Amino acid sequence: MADRIPAVESRELCLRILRYNPLDPHSAPKQVDYHLEEAPGMTLFVALNEIREHQDHSLAFDFVCRAGICGSCGMLINGRPGLACRTLTSSLPPLVTLAPLPGFRLIADLSVDTGTWMRGMSERLQTWVHAQEQEVDLNAIEAPMDPDLAESIYELERCIECGCCVAACGAALMRADFAGAVGLNKLARFRLDPRDVREDSDYFELAGDESGVFGCLTLLGCEDVCPKSLPLAGQIAYLRRTFAQHVLGGGT
Ligand code: SF4
Ligand code: F3S
Ligand code: FES
Repeated sequence: MADRIPAVESRELCLRILRYNPLDPHSAPKQVDYHLEEAPGMTLFVALNEIREHQDHSLAFDFVCRAGICGSCGMLINGRPGLACRTLTSSLPPLVTLAPLPGFRLIADLSVDTGTWMRGMSERLQTWVHAQEQEVDLNAIEAPMDPDLAESIYELERCIECGCCVAACGAALMRADFAGAVGLNKLARFRLDPRDVREDSDYFELAGDESGVFGCLTLLGCEDVCPKSLPLAGQIAYLRRTFAQHVLGGGT
């Protein structure tokens, strides 16, 4: 007789979710428990959808891609920032607490407005290529970039602006104008780009103070939680060294 495959016992999960809608004058922050049966390969995205579909249509949370690409499903999962669409319930205990990411404007329940924060940071740090102004020659062929350099830029470009690094950073939570690891990583990325004509003095002007590189307290939470495993602490240290050299070299 063929061996029987032992049945895997499914668990009952309890998702304890912090509910609050700041726009509703009758709403007060409270934790609500939702119980559901765990399914094989279930992610928190699937679990939350099941709750919204079958138990409570009013539950607010954000998802777009379900594949760790859009950055919209960041939340506190048992106190740690992470992406709900990339978190398997099997990696968690049966009681899971969920709360919105701190550091961003709360929209409702698990939904926060990371977009306004990211846009403000991008405008402050001017996170775009500042190219030399010149007449565009439509027949010109763009000079190829060194593949190793292109790879280094690509590595830093993988940020999905999920906000997890901001939510995990004590410095960012204490100082609203701190650019956070996400902002400093972007600055490092443009500094590498040979098409960007800015000098170290320009970068220093943008982030050479406590709202920038010198606001980082090396707490390292950013790198711990980044779902894209970006080398954030190394990039911040590199920028700090560059700025220190700029000042020691006589820059102001
Ligand atoms: Fe998210 Fe990482 Fe980008 Fe921070 S650096 S916003 S944690 S992807
Ligand atoms: Fe914050 Fe990361 Fe610096 S957690 S203090 S940005 S090393
Ligand atoms: Fe897009 Fe999770 S839904 S990253």
